[in-house]
Order: sequence, then structure tokens, then C-alpha cells
Amino acid sequence: MLKSDCSTCHKISTTSIGPAFEKVSIKYQSDPKAVDYLANKVINGSSGVWGEIPMPAHSAMKEAEVKKITEWIMTLGNKDAVAKSLPASGKITPANNVDKKKSVLTLKATYTDAGTAKLKPLTTTNAVNLKSNEIDASDIKNLKGFEKKEVSGAEVIALTENNGSFSLSNIDLTNISGFKFNLANSTNYEVEIRLDNLEGELLGKSALKSDVAIHPVSGGKFHRVYFVFKEASGERPIIKSVTVESL
Ligand code: HEC
Repeated sequence: MLKSDCSTCHKISTTSIGPAFEKVSIKYQSDPKAVDYLANKVINGSSGVWGEIPMPAHSAMKEAEVKKITEWIMTLGNKDAVAKSLPASGKITPANNVDKKKSVLTLKATYTDAGTAKLKPLTTTNAVNLKSNEIDASDIKNLKGFEKKEVSGAEVIALTENNGSFSLSNIDLTNISGFKFNLANSTNYEVEIRLDNLEGELLGKSALKSDVAIHPVSGGKFHRVYFVFKEASGERPIIKSVTVESL
């Protein structure tokens, strides 16, 4: 671009002797052949499209070179996508109407750079899955001594033996203060919360009331957390969901 004379008559966003390149780009956004059409106009000259002044022919320029320029011109009008985009860093608060029953929120980010006269814009996409902090009985895995049952339309896990356990995988315990059990009955059972395996580090131990605190785990790694239930008098626990509670 710099080697050619375009900039003596064109500016990117303001009208000069010739039309602003952004305006040209917007005018032809819906035309799939715009790059070729405009390249042809540049090489052979143009008149009567934008006003009284004609554009001289650029017959000495190579077609491939001109096409690179018109390709770049066509990216300038694609402002919609850019205007709607989010800053490169910041916070996102998911809408309140997000379905709480869905236990995973997928966050997908796409970044497109502006490109140059010689390079088309490049796009890259990444996605992360964020789990809900409330884990329904239907999503609880690795059951031992527990069975999945239905109680008034909702799935629960019920302890059917004297002792039992289950685990939750891929949990980042940074800033996690404890777990809350949503019980369908009242029980005298105790629960032990252990790190990474059934005999792993004891994080917390308490009567199976609603909230069970754990001591802090740092390091930002993902862990499997085991919940171990030991024989006690009275009813065996029936659990509707487990909530991971943060500090
Ligand atoms: C001497 C001034 C001048 C120069 C140099 C010039 N242009 Fe233009 N250009 C114009 C004018 C005036 C128009 C409007 C022509 C018309 O109304 O059809 C125009 C129109 C255009 C258009 C739109 C054509 C259409 O059909 O809508 C494009 C694209 C364009 N120029 C690209 C370029 C490029 C790329 C260069 C450099 C290689 C260049 N121009 C150099 C004056 C110039």
C-alpha cells in the first residue's frame, strides 16, 4: 500500500479525493465477489460510482498485489463484529436466567486480529467448561453402598448398606470452605471428606448436618474429593444434591 499512490486520494475513515476505504468496504460487504470487482476497478480505473471525480487506472500494478489491498479494504467495514466484542480481559457475570439444572456452563471465546494488507485476519477459539457448584444426585459418580433412586420425581442417592462412599472429580479446592448436603431425611450418620482417595488426607469430619467445613487446600490443582459415610444408628442418609461452598 505504501508503495502505491492510493493514500494520496484515499483515507481509511474520512472522505478525501476518493471515498473513505471504510465506506467502500461497507458498501460491498454483502457482495461475495467484492475483492475481485474492486481490484478490477483499481486496475482499470473507476468513474461515476462515488461522485464526479474519476479514479485513474493503475494498469502497471499486478493483479495479485491489488487483490491483497482490496482484501484488506474489505476487512475495514466489518466493524459490527469488532464493536460487539468484549475486552481482552475482565469479568463476565452469566445471565440470571441460566438454567441452574444444567451443571456445566460453557464459556467460548473467539479472538480475531485486525489483519494487515498482506495477511487476512486470523481467528482463534477456545472453550472452557465451568461446573455448577451444586451437583445433583444424578451427576454424582463412583457410588459405593449408595444407590440412585427416585423420590417424588427427583433423583437421589440413598445409602443402602451400613457404610458407603462417593466421590466428586475435577474439583478445584482453592477458596473452598466446605460442602453442603441437601438431605431428603434426617440422619445421625457422620461424613468424612478425604482428598484424592478413600484413605487420603482428611479434610473435614462432622455429623451429617447441612454444612460440613473443610480445611483449606491450596495449589490450584484439580482434585477428586471422597465422601465417606460410616455406620451409625438411625436412618441411612438420602442425598438430593451436594453444594461446593466457597469462602
Ligand atoms: C488520483 C486519486 C486516486 C488514486 C491515486 C487512487 N484512487 Fe481509488 N478512487 C478515487 C476516486 C475519485 C474514486 C471514486 C471513483 C468513482 O466514483 O467511481 C475511487 C474509488 C476507489 C474504489 C471504489 C471503486 C468502486 O467501484 O466503488 C476503490 C476500491 C479504490 N478507489 C481503491 C484504490 C486503491 C487501492 C488505490 C491505490 C492502488 C487507489 N484507489 C488510488 C481516487 C483515487
